[in-house]
Amino acid sequence: MDKRGWHSMGMSTSPTWLIANWKMNGNAHQMRDWMHAVDIALGQGDSAVQCVLCPPFVYLSDTLDALLKVESTTLAVGAQNCHPAEKGAYTGEISAPMLAELSCKYVIVGHSERRATGETDAEVLAKAQAVIAAKMIPVICVGESRAVYEAGQTKDVLNAQLATLSGLNPAEYLIAYEPIWAIGTGLTPTVVEIQAVHRHIKSVLGSGVSVLYGGSVNAGNLEEILGIAEVSGGLIGGASLEIESMGAMVAIARKIRGN
Ligand code: PGA
Repeated sequence: MDKRGWHSMGMSTSPTWLIANWKMNGNAHQMRDWMHAVDIALGQGDSAVQCVLCPPFVYLSDTLDALLKVESTTLAVGAQNCHPAEKGAYTGEISAPMLAELSCKYVIVGHSERRATGETDAEVLAKAQAVIAAKMIPVICVGESRAVYEAGQTKDVLNAQLATLSGLNPAEYLIAYEPIWAIGTGLTPTVVEIQAVHRHIKSVLGSGVSVLYGGSVNAGNLEEILGIAEVSGGLIGGASLEIESMGAMVAIARKIRGN
């Protein structure tokens, strides 16, 4: 189901996404338990909340098997990265068509932990294009460092990251705004700051783009963050690992954004 597929299912508005980025954590058993628990938290029938689990590559098959068992339409599986090429001599890499063949629906691209290893805006664009070509949804991460934030240059840095995306159709991707200094630190920007940045991203890419917030999202701050109309959901690392806190976040999202 892509963003437009959501509408073709009869849903009038875009969902609120809760995307769990497990990074290099967990095991197959935990993935299966998580899928089962989140399916129950999402409840029966159509939900305005779309949950996505992005496990390490080696657990994708187990997670997708678990998804088949729960048969949920509001639960999906994503990958944390892909290679921009369709195939070829790229030792250790995995292509977008391979992920699509497995039945992944989402792929995170341009996470700051990957940009930190040298991934460029051009490579992030190429990966996003590969994901779209394979009929999945790229979750394109952007965000500023602490030094940039403190210098008041957040919009300048975002503008450079967003400029490369101008040729893409906003209906075919999600943006995740993740201030690097907020990731895994327990720190978050203020509500006013998050709203201002989300508005800015929409002013650059178009009002139709869905922008998630990421960086120390947890059950204690999700309500406030989803209270911001411009926020289409969360990309959640640490707090998504615990079934209990994930269940609490699903309940909060359902309460705020409707069933
Ligand atoms: P965090 O990570 O929720 O642990 O801050 C978010 C992310 O890196 O996507």
